[in-house]
Amino acid sequence: MNELILAIESSCDETSVAVIKNGDTILSNIVASQIKSHQRFGGVVPEVASRHHVEQITLCIEEALTQADTQPEELSAVAVTYGPGLVGALLIGLSAAKAFAWAHSLPLIPVNHMAGHIYAARLVKPLVFPLMALLVSGGHTELVYMAEDGSFEIIGETRDDAAGEAYDKVGRVLGLPYPSGKEIDRLAHLGSDTYHFPRAMIQEDNFDFSFSGLKSSFINFVHNAQQREEALSVENLAASFQASVVEVLVHKTLRACQAYPVNQLIVAGGVAANQGLRDALQKAMQELPEVELLIPPLRLCGDNAAMIGAYAHVALKKQRLADLSLNADPSVSFAHTIS
Ligand code: KG4
Ligand code: ZN
Repeated sequence: MNELILAIESSCDETSVAVIKNGDTILSNIVASQIKSHQRFGGVVPEVASRHHVEQITLCIEEALTQADTQPEELSAVAVTYGPGLVGALLIGLSAAKAFAWAHSLPLIPVNHMAGHIYAARLVKPLVFPLMALLVSGGHTELVYMAEDGSFEIIGETRDDAAGEAYDKVGRVLGLPYPSGKEIDRLAHLGSDTYHFPRAMIQEDNFDFSFSGLKSSFINFVHNAQQREEALSVENLAASFQASVVEVLVHKTLRACQAYPVNQLIVAGGVAANQGLRDALQKAMQELPEVELLIPPLRLCGDNAAMIGAYAHVALKKQRLADLSLNADPSVSFAHTIS
C-alpha cells in the first residue's frame, strides 16, 4: 500500500501544504506566497506573516488534498515544520497539523525546516550516502555531512550573516525590492567583477563562512561613491558581490567534498536557485567526478511543503514522531535530529 503524507510548512512567508507519496513523489504542492505583503516593509514582518498563514492554511490543506485526489482516511501521517523559523508563523502550521492529526487519528511527524531543504533533492533522485549538503537560505549557510539517511552533522556554518541575508541587505542598498537575491543574480549576469570585494575566510582551514564583512565593504563602497557623486554600474556591483559570495561558497564546498568520503553533493535552500552558484558548482565539481552534484529545480529550492513531506518519510520509518504537546522551536538545530 502506498504511504501518503500530508505535509505542512509555515516557517516564514510561504504557507504551503503538500501530499507526498512514498517519500519521493509529489501528488500536490500548494504554495501561497505572501511576499507582496512584506515588500513595502523591506522584509518579512512576523505579525503580518502569522495573519496570512491563518487566512491561508485551511484553504491550502483543502487544495492540496483535492489536487492529490486524496481523502484524509487514505493518509498515513501528518508532517509539520516545527522550526527553525518565526515562532508565530510556525505555530499556525503546527496548530493546523495537530488538529488534523487528532481529528483523523494520524501520527504527527515533526520536521526540521533545514532537513526539509536537503530532502527536496530526494524528490529528484535517490540519495546515496554518505553525502554533503550545502544549505544556503535567507537564515542559514551551512555545510552538512550526512553519513546516512536522517543523520546530520554540521561541519561548517556562517559566523554572522547567512548568504541570502547578505543578498537581501545589499539589495536594499541598491534600492531593489525584497527579497533581492533573484534580481541581483539577474543583474550579475549583465555585469562583471570589476570592484573585487573581499573573499572572507577563504584561506582559513575550516568550513565556516562570514558574509557580514562583504556586506559592510559593499555598503561603504556604495556610500563613498555617492558622497563623491561618482556613478557606479549596478550590473558590475551585482556581479562583483555575487562573484565574492559564489567563490567562497564553491571553494569551501569543494574542500568539504574532498575532506569527506561523499557520493553526492546536494545544494539546497533559497540561494540554491542562484544561477551563478549553480554554474560555478557545476564547473568546479568536474574536479571531483566521483561526486554527483544534485541541485533541486527552482520550484523546490524556495520554501515548500513537498520537501517537508520528503524528509517526513524518513522520520516515519525511524519512528521520530511527536505527540500533541509538540511546540514550535524557532532556533532548533540539526543536533536534535541526529539518529
Ligand atoms: O530558503 P528560503 O526560501 O527561505 C528561508 O528559509 O530563508 O530562502 C530565501 C532566500 C532570500 O534571502 C532570497 O533573497 C534568496 O533566498 N534567493 C536568492 C535567489 N533566489 C532566492 N539568492 C540568490 N540568488 C537567487 N537566485
Ligand atoms: Zn527555507
